[in-house]
Amino acid sequence: MKEPIHYGPLRLVDGGRLVGFMEDNGAVVDGDYLADLKDEIDIKKQWCMWDKPAFYDFLRETPRGMAAHVTPRTEEVTEWTGTDVKVILDNMKSRRAARSFTGEPVSDDDIWQMVQAGRFAASGGNLRPHRFLVTRNPETVRKIRSFSPGMLAEPSAIIAILIDWDQVAREFSSIQPSMIPYVDVGTAAQNMLNMAYALGVGSCPVTSFSQSGVAGVLDLPSNLTVELLIMLGQPKPVERGLNANAPKSVTTKDLTSWETFGNHDR
Ligand SMILES: Cc1cc2nc3c(=O)[nH]c(=O)nc-3n(C[C@H](O)[C@H](O)[C@H](O)COP(=O)(O)O)c2cc1C
Repeated sequence: MKEPIHYGPLRLVDGGRLVGFMEDNGAVVDGDYLADLKDEIDIKKQWCMWDKPAFYDFLRETPRGMAAHVTPRTEEVTEWTGTDVKVILDNMKSRRAARSFTGEPVSDDDIWQMVQAGRFAASGGNLRPHRFLVTRNPETVRKIRSFSPGMLAEPSAIIAILIDWDQVAREFSSIQPSMIPYVDVGTAAQNMLNMAYALGVGSCPVTSFSQSGVAGVLDLPSNLTVELLIMLGQPKPVERGLNANAPKSVTTKDLTSWETFGNHDR
């Protein structure tokens, strides 16, 4: 397989995590094997630096060993219909940043759906170095807003997307220099915005805020930085747009080239 060398150790690290996940979900039939495997991964992932053949052998053999020790998935695979695809695309096309709220609360169940959508976003190396911090307390929301000039409305709740730099230092050592954690913030945010819209909740991403100010309000330890805030609220029926930069009629065709850059025709 042709791929960057660091993908091997990344997959191993991910394999170690999956072992934990399988244990949590009762998919495991041989606990001792998995405990040993986790230790083995921790040691043998280092081999990529000084014993490439042994490392590649380990990469090849480990999945076979794992396959013999787990029970297969029994869930049904979702089959998408044309109607589902249209609903999903319509949701993405009609979602707008909401900046005008009624003041009514957003339910915990709705917020939970949003953070789940964030959790299932694509993530570089599947490492997921981001954390989601939900704030519903009106006083805390007010304080966060006082450090956020870009927060143009009073939300009922805020989801702060953080990066855990301790995790990045631990697990991203083979990727350098890396913008992956920031990309992960974006993928999670977009999933959350789409889910919010699907639930009828108004949402708006905000990056215009003081990182240190908001971190102080949230009492965060130094390994956590606040990268993006999503304000949430019940949207007012007539949505107020941000006029400063609008409207630019960018079409999908304008943004997309086929085969050669600048060739917009299929
Ligand atoms: C990275 C990023 C940062 C943003 N920061 C802010 C912000 O600080 N304040 C704000 O009101 N909107 C912010 N937005 C929302 C954009 O202005 C909005 O997504 C854009 O105008 C397109 O409008 P739409 O989301 O309704 O399609 C941000 C969006 C992104 C992706």
